[in-house]
Amino acid sequence: MGKFENIDTMLHQALQAIEQANDSAAIENARITILGKSGSFTQLGKILGTLPIEQKKDFGAELNIAKKQIEDKLGAKKEILAEQELNTKLAKETLDVTLPIRDEHQGRIHPVSKIYEEVVAIFGQMGFDIAEGPDIEDQFHNFNALNMPANHPARQMQDTFYIKNPDSDNFDDSYVIRTHTSGIQIRTMEKQQPPIRIIAPGRTYRSDWDATHTPMFHQVEGLVIDKNITMAHLKGCLYDFMKAFFELDDLPVRYRPSYFPFTEPSAEMDIGCLKTKTELKIGAGTDWLEVLGCGMVHPNVLRAGGINPDEYQGFAFGLGIDRLAMLKYGIPDLRTFFESDTRWLKHYGFTPLDFSSMTGGLSNTGGQAR
Ligand code: PHE
Repeated sequence: MGKFENIDTMLHQALQAIEQANDSAAIENARITILGKSGSFTQLGKILGTLPIEQKKDFGAELNIAKKQIEDKLGAKKEILAEQELNTKLAKETLDVTLPIRDEHQGRIHPVSKIYEEVVAIFGQMGFDIAEGPDIEDQFHNFNALNMPANHPARQMQDTFYIKNPDSDNFDDSYVIRTHTSGIQIRTMEKQQPPIRIIAPGRTYRSDWDATHTPMFHQVEGLVIDKNITMAHLKGCLYDFMKAFFELDDLPVRYRPSYFPFTEPSAEMDIGCLKTKTELKIGAGTDWLEVLGCGMVHPNVLRAGGINPDEYQGFAFGLGIDRLAMLKYGIPDLRTFFESDTRWLKHYGFTPLDFSSMTGGLSNTGGQAR
């Protein structure tokens, strides 16, 4: 008990008020009624000035001790309340991850998205980065820089969709919706000096329509550039990719000489399979299936991308995602991919919980809605 009864009483009341506050709003209220501008202790402080000199010192000291007690109590109580509030919040927000999903038959991942994930998982583990480029491309990136100058006959190999350039009537200035992802090779070289190791997945467009061709389809471009890169690296990389992708330990492959203006030498890769009237079995048999185009990057392409071909070499490849999906998951007609028929998607799609990874399983076909 101090000398001053009024301090004692008020201290007692204040401590009680703090004790009774049961949430942070109440504790703030209590603080204001005690220490606020017109709070009880602030008022008490004003008495100090009116006291005779001999009492002033003791009163002041006692008041300070009482204030300190109040502040300590406020701090301690605030901490307790904050912890309680956090616990209540955490309890309310608990998510029971063991609960089954509401309707596992709703929603499917499209086979194109699934293959995309698988391809990214495989090349990701090999250390490739992902690059991107625009769907609407200029002719420089889609053709010229890829060793296909205007009037080059190879431009006719691809049935190109052109878009008029609003700023020019000159046909050479018109844009294209990219006929392949190879323009991203140039865009990557423009941004980055070797070593380069990228894949570039994306939509591509050609005027074509039958069971294995649609005007919009998907490709993955690959580009590796460094010192001393050889055709052996290309072969090893793509062989490893195909084995991982088709989830086979052994897969017969062959490289057929081919022609692309932007690679020299160029090749197409075939994988071994068995075709019967009703079935296509990948990995065994006497037939071959073409799966991708590839080759050593042409020196003119390196130059166009700002890379010295006397110092660096590289390889590139382009594969069709849709085609890989048809082969891996036995889907006979490409046009059905883009009809948005939910019955089709239910049949060929994948459950959203089947992630593709090299360690956890690539295709998880067990989860496929069959
Ligand atoms: N761009 C080629 C195509 O669309 C594929 C390819 C890419 C071939 C890279 C060689 C190297 O057919």
